[in-house]
Amino acid sequence: MKKFFISVVLVFSLLRSYADEGMWLPLLLGEQVYAEMQKKGLKLTKEQLYSINKASLKDAIIIFGNGCTGEIVSSQGLIFTNHHCGYGAIAAASSVENNYLRDGFYAKSNKEEIKTGLTVQFLVRIDDVTKEVNDSLGTLLGKARADKQAAVLAAINKRLSDAGAFIECRVSPLFKGNQFLAFIYQRYKDIRLVSTPPESVGKFGGDTDNWEWPRHTGDFSVFRVYASKDGKPSEYNAENTPLKPKYFLPVSIKGIKDGDFAMTWGYPGSTNRYESSFGIKLSTDVNNPTLVKLRDMRLKYMFAEMQKDAGTKLKLASDYASIANYWKFYDGETKQLLKYDVFGQKQKAEQEFKAWAKDKPEYAAIFPEWEKVYNAWQPYALHRMYMNEGIFGSPLLSFAASLIQLEAALVKTNATKEDVKKAMDAIVTSRKSFLASHDRMSDQNIVGSVLMMYYADVPKEQHPISFFETVKSNFGDLKDETTWKKYAAAVFGNTMILNEDKWNAFVANPDAVKLQEDLAFNIAGAFFKNWNTKFLPRFQEFTIKNNDLGRLYLKGIMEMNPTKAKKMYPDATFTMRVSYGNVKSYVPRDAVKYDFVTTSKGLLEKYKAGDYEFDLPGKQIELLKKRDFGQYADPLRKELVIAFITTNDITGGNSGSPVIDANGNLLGLVFDGNYEALSHKLAFDKDLNRTICVDIRYVLWCIDKLGGAGHLIKELKLVK
Ligand code: ARG
Repeated sequence: MKKFFISVVLVFSLLRSYADEGMWLPLLLGEQVYAEMQKKGLKLTKEQLYSINKASLKDAIIIFGNGCTGEIVSSQGLIFTNHHCGYGAIAAASSVENNYLRDGFYAKSNKEEIKTGLTVQFLVRIDDVTKEVNDSLGTLLGKARADKQAAVLAAINKRLSDAGAFIECRVSPLFKGNQFLAFIYQRYKDIRLVSTPPESVGKFGGDTDNWEWPRHTGDFSVFRVYASKDGKPSEYNAENTPLKPKYFLPVSIKGIKDGDFAMTWGYPGSTNRYESSFGIKLSTDVNNPTLVKLRDMRLKYMFAEMQKDAGTKLKLASDYASIANYWKFYDGETKQLLKYDVFGQKQKAEQEFKAWAKDKPEYAAIFPEWEKVYNAWQPYALHRMYMNEGIFGSPLLSFAASLIQLEAALVKTNATKEDVKKAMDAIVTSRKSFLASHDRMSDQNIVGSVLMMYYADVPKEQHPISFFETVKSNFGDLKDETTWKKYAAAVFGNTMILNEDKWNAFVANPDAVKLQEDLAFNIAGAFFKNWNTKFLPRFQEFTIKNNDLGRLYLKGIMEMNPTKAKKMYPDATFTMRVSYGNVKSYVPRDAVKYDFVTTSKGLLEKYKAGDYEFDLPGKQIELLKKRDFGQYADPLRKELVIAFITTNDITGGNSGSPVIDANGNLLGLVFDGNYEALSHKLAFDKDLNRTICVDIRYVLWCIDKLGGAGHLIKELKLVK
């Protein structure tokens, strides 16, 4: 009897160790999905989760900045999000003298909170506009369809937006354009920095630990949303007061157990779970390795300068972090796609589809056609990566390319003085922000390297030939590194973009020839025009056809399997989603088991004094050694829990998302995905996928014990 019992438990827990695929639209939580959530432990009603008329959980979830999630945690508009989501704002608020990025920041009162350039958006409602869009698209295909769709969506967006009330509508095509939902948001523009831990805590483990479990990162920061006195969104104004939100999340410090129910709410950016096998192959063979190679080079030069002094570090930190983040992501994605033969898996699914589709006129031609489309594009894919990640991976060249519009205004025969002035004014402003974060040395090295790499890697017949000929005749052998070093030094030494006197003279007396003679503009112009005239049209054609075929394929899949179709969720499109699952340990490889939490014990083991990635504040070491965990200690482990993992289905954009328990209380913040499942954008791995979260008790410990900001803890609704 006992034996039987054990094996039942074993089977049960094996089943439960599966990760939980699905990023569900909160508006369309079907009965089936909701019932599943209840079965897993959810105690809230559907109305408590998402209601149109009453305040509900969804009202506490916000778009934070441009690509993250945040949540409201107090009646005073307090926001929790990740440190890496607040990173740019924290770096911008910092100076070498008041280095909040390095030292942390804790406002003692509302008055000390720091103005930022951030905005947040609350979801007001979701309208289904599928019929309206489909009626106007009819059976259109190709460019005609793409253009029409863009026009129809723009018209709906305009109709449902209200600039005066800060209301913005964005229609999102779901299921690859088989469904269209209008998401209506209200944007708040006065967001202030309240508190952040030092970077050593907020980014502990740096890029070495990034995308990996076990993890010990205190990846959180705290902001506040302000509104006008009558509670309306407004631009920054010293007179504004903290927003009284419709809803905020209570915070649980009770702790978690393996298997506990957990759901995440937030804004996953993009997935492509029905990508074709052709797309997988293009990623693993060309796109990913090229991106990784070029970012490798850029990061190396940036890091060399950042290490030299604090000012350069502050200038480059934010860009460096985001380049490094997806450098490691795409490297890991390639490895996992190959390891699990996702290409083979996709091909198998496609075989099945082809067999079903062979006598159906709408679908029979998809795969032969798709193959042709990919074959036509394949020879140019590398070049495209070189443009995006190489040539325009240089901040100077990317800025110089923006002068092409100015050039157009200057050479236009009937251009008025006003036209030129308008173009010039825009450039003068954007140049200021370009210079504020520009580091010359790293960029010069990047330009020298990228041009040499482009010359060697991109097929010769695609080159801007006369550009390379000119460099050759003036600077020497194009395969020789010293040629490119000399050339890059000449560009950076001579360009007016980096020289105040030359720039001011040009602004006072704008002239197309002067601009065209500028070496930086010259490179940007040569590569950009070569790309734009000869290859961009091919890319646009590829994208349009790929989209048409992808939409049809997905429509076919749903038709082929109507029962499955009822349980399908749309790919991520940076629209609000809920994902549910459990807190759960996992087995990353043979004979290794990963616990579901990490603790301060492990944090101290990883700590390396003075290290670039694994240092910690002295005060933190002292407190942890004294075991001063206060009310935040874990009752079972008798340690401070730092992070935990769940089986939830998330991706980039979910950063900062709340992890919520069965009763609607905040348990932690999502901040990463695990390495073993980095193929998750293209293929979800049921065994290995985990979401990495910072435990809310560690967040509160940092605010309270490390930062001495106990007044913020009092603002929360703690569940003990
Ligand atoms: N991987 C995390 C995410 O995409 C970001 C972590 C940022 N940290 C870093 N070391 N670059 O959400």
